[in-house]
Amino acid sequence: MSYSHSHLLGIEPLSPPEITTILDLANQYADLNRRGGAQDKTLAGLTQINMFFENSTRTLASFELAGVRLGADVMNMSMQASSIKKGETLIDTALTLNAMRPDLLVVRHPQSGAVDLLAQKVNCAVLNAGDGRHEHPTQALLDALTIRRAKGRLHRLSIAICGDIAHSRVARSNILLLGKMENRLRLIGPPTLMPSGIRDFGVEVFEDMQEGLRDVDVVMMLRLQRERMDGGFIPSEREYYHRYGLDAEKLRHAKPDAIVMHPGPMNRGVEIDGEIADDINRSVIQEQVEMGVAVRMAAMDLLARNLRARPREVMA
Ligand code: NCD
Repeated sequence: MSYSHSHLLGIEPLSPPEITTILDLANQYADLNRRGGAQDKTLAGLTQINMFFENSTRTLASFELAGVRLGADVMNMSMQASSIKKGETLIDTALTLNAMRPDLLVVRHPQSGAVDLLAQKVNCAVLNAGDGRHEHPTQALLDALTIRRAKGRLHRLSIAICGDIAHSRVARSNILLLGKMENRLRLIGPPTLMPSGIRDFGVEVFEDMQEGLRDVDVVMMLRLQRERMDGGFIPSEREYYHRYGLDAEKLRHAKPDAIVMHPGPMNRGVEIDGEIADDINRSVIQEQVEMGVAVRMAAMDLLARNLRARPREVMA
């Protein structure tokens, strides 16, 4: 097995064989979860702390379930209610938690780079559960596993990522991962929601959905992330849905067996039509949630193996 890192902070430092290692193990966990047999002791004796400085439904639940299924002692810290509100710095909070000697620290934070900074200050394995608009590695890995299971491969596919690319850590991690695995990436959205310089990542950019979706194998929709917008990026939700919302008419331009994805939470009638989201012949949105638990089990399993193999002092 090749996964030599002490943390999972992003997709950027991972090599294609390392990505494949995580996905292969996650695939085994997915099968085990389906058989109801994943009550395992892989993380027995280890403490996992989930520190979420931003709201989350599926990511937090998924990390918690993954830890419990592998036998870890799992604690959720609600950071809204913590000393952060009293003015404690991120680093002080990290050092306090570190003194409690956790083994795995799962962190979501609204600032890009905050999780990397924290990882330098603690001597346990840190998993990034989303930092600002920077990275969300486990989301990209669960998306990759979902694609691989649906399409039978994870290379030479034509994949469209649509909507609010500029504010999305999901888009960024997916562009990195799917690019490393040699897929053809198309980004579709209004110019106001497209990051500048994005063409340097080897992607094609489209303003028009019909053109961008032509013959793609995978359609990945993104939420309009209003919490990260400081001004008017779109004329109106109605207009946005008309031009960029995925409905049956627009989906007709993709391949007949193209799959539809969305990381959630979804805004039905804004970026996606409710009927498409619920169409079990096209939508793999529920499968994404299912793969999320398996991918997080695999990531924590691999990090725990490295923790056990190395003395804490030499962790980078
Ligand atoms: C995403 C996130 O938090 O970045 N959601 C998730 O993790 N399931 C995407 C989003 O919030 O739109």
